[in-house]
Amino acid sequence: MAGRNKITVVGAGNIGGTAAHWIASKELADVVLVDIVEGTPQGKCLDLAQAAPIDGFDVKLVGANGYEETAGSDVVIITAGLARKPGMSRDDLLKTNADIVGGVTEQVAKYSPNAFIIVVSNPLDAMAQLAYVRSGFPKNRVLGMAGILDSARMRCFVAEELNVSVENVSCFVLGGHGDTMVPLPRYSTVAGIPITELIAPERLAEIVKRTANGGAEIVGLLKTGSAFYAPSLAAVEMAEAILKDKKKILPCAVYLEGEYGINNLFVGVPVKLGKNGIEQIIEISLTNEERAALHKSAGAVQELIDVLGI
Ligand code: NAI
Ligand code: 2OP
Repeated sequence: MAGRNKITVVGAGNIGGTAAHWIASKELADVVLVDIVEGTPQGKCLDLAQAAPIDGFDVKLVGANGYEETAGSDVVIITAGLARKPGMSRDDLLKTNADIVGGVTEQVAKYSPNAFIIVVSNPLDAMAQLAYVRSGFPKNRVLGMAGILDSARMRCFVAEELNVSVENVSCFVLGGHGDTMVPLPRYSTVAGIPITELIAPERLAEIVKRTANGGAEIVGLLKTGSAFYAPSLAAVEMAEAILKDKKKILPCAVYLEGEYGINNLFVGVPVKLGKNGIEQIIEISLTNEERAALHKSAGAVQELIDVLGI
C-alpha cells in the first residue's frame, strides 16, 4: 500500500493555517506547517490535531520553523509573505514578498526536489514566476493559485443574482490576479445555459467589476488582512487534483510559452491538473476584445517581472 501523501504549507498565517485545516479535514495528506514565527505553526498544528478526534481525521500535523521536517513533500503550498491592508494593492507587496518567496522556494527545492509547488503569496503571478525561476523545477510542477478564487467569487455573485445553487454555476476568469483580470461571461454558465442569456448586460457588467474587485472588497471589510477561507480552499483544490490524479480543468497561473500569444510569463489560463501537475494548457477561442483584455492583463504581470529582473 502506498504511504500517505505529505503536503508542506509555508506561512502559518490566515491562509496557511486554514489550508492546513482543509487538508486535514479532507484527510488529503499529512501536513507540515512552517513559519518564521516561533510557536505559531506548532500551536496551530496542536490545535488542529486536537480537532481530529472530534471530526475523525487521521492525519499527522507538524509545526516547524525550519525545513528538515518538510523533506520529501509531495506538494508545497507557499503562503508566506505580507497580506494586503486597506489602501494597498497586491503589487505594493512586490519587493518584500519577493525576498520572502525567493528564500522559501530555495529551501523547498532543497528539501523536496520532486514536489509540486503551489504559490499563493501576492502579487500572485510574479511570485509564481519567481518560484519557478528559483526552484529550477520544470514548468509542469510550479503553479499559482488565483483563477479558482476569482471564478469562485464570480460564481458566488451569479448564484446570488439568479437565486440558484452555486453548484449550478460555472464561471471563467482568465489573466493575472490583479485589477486587470479578465472575467469571461461568454464562457460562464448556469446548468449549461450561458449567463449572457440570463442576466442583463448592465447587471453582468456590475458582477464582472465586483469580481475583479473581490479581494479589495474583503480587505475593506476585514481591515487588518485579506481573504483566507476561499483562497486556502482553492489552493487545496489544486493539491487534491494533483494528488488524486483527477485530470480536473481549473484556471491556474502557469508558465506560458506561446499559448494565447503570451511568452515566458505566468498568467492565469485553464489547465488540466493530474498526477503530472500541469498536464495540458487549454486554449479557448477569444474575441478580439477578450484577447486584448488578456494581453493587457499579461502586460501588467510583465511590468512586475521587469521590476524583479527575472
Ligand atoms: P498572513 O499575514 O496571515 O500570513 C502570512 C504568514 O507568512 C505569517 O504568519 C508570517 O509570519 C509568515 N511569513 C513571513 N515570512 C516568512 C518566511 N520567510 N517563511 C515562512 N513564513 C513567513 O497572510 P495571509 O492572509 O495568510 O496571506 C498570505 C499571502 O497570500 C499574502 O501575500 C496575500 O496577499 C496572499 N493572498 C493571495 C491570494 C491569491 O488569490 N493568490 C488571495 C489572498 C491572499
Ligand atoms: C484576494 O484576492 C488579496 O489577492 C487577495 O483576496
